[in-house]
Amino acid sequence: MTKSTNTIWHNATVTRTHRERLNSHRSAVLWFTGLSGSGKSTLAHAVEDRLHQLNCRTYVLDGDNIRHGLCSDLGFSVADRSENIRRISEAAKLLVESGVIAMTAFISPFHTDRQRARGIFPHGDFIEIFCQASLEVCEQRDVKGLYRRARAGEVKEFTGISSPYEAPLAPELVVSTGECLLDDCVARVVEYLQCRNILSINPEQACVVEVDDSQERPVISSGYSPE
Ligand code: ADX
Repeated sequence: MTKSTNTIWHNATVTRTHRERLNSHRSAVLWFTGLSGSGKSTLAHAVEDRLHQLNCRTYVLDGDNIRHGLCSDLGFSVADRSENIRRISEAAKLLVESGVIAMTAFISPFHTDRQRARGIFPHGDFIEIFCQASLEVCEQRDVKGLYRRARAGEVKEFTGISSPYEAPLAPELVVSTGECLLDDCVARVVEYLQCRNILSINPEQACVVEVDDSQERPVISSGYSPE
């Protein structure tokens, strides 16, 4: 709920479209979601690396990092996670307005929070990428030792152990980060962006993108897009 009153929106003269033209690519948000240890941050940074090589302007908002600053006052209750995702989605929206390809790597475990995030972006700009890795795989990796501590009861409300993770119902992309090589996962994401004509403002480089009305999600097929 907003507490800001008596404020009036100021429209910028330099718009997102101007910035996209300057960048020679479109902007969007790649919303990576998945269990802790599923590889969201690793994949987001690897995708960023690849996009940077392709002369794209990018920025990664990373769960652990953001919780050191913008969201350092938040914990892991349902309400705090919800506020975490709200702030991140607003930050990502600013980045998208600035013409950047924004990537967010947050567990974002709750369907309603992700849907609310999706809802603040223009249709098609929110690309939900499910980093699919089983709890067994994530727990076996246990890079930060948090699963072990959660099992021991030392970390409360830990996603997958004592707090739920609601897998996306209709994400734009599912990437098997639990099984596939990082390079293959990166390739899948970049291929998707190419097909969606995000990496170029030249429509001749795109595939056909159809909107599946039953799910209201863009679905890729091969071919030329006259968009
Ligand atoms: S989210 O649920 O609000 O989206 P976020 O992605 O910001 O979570 O932060 C998750 C990271 O915080 C994990 O990767 C892990 O390193 C750390 N963490 C600490 N406590 C918890 C917890 N109770 N549940 C999940 N992650 C936790």
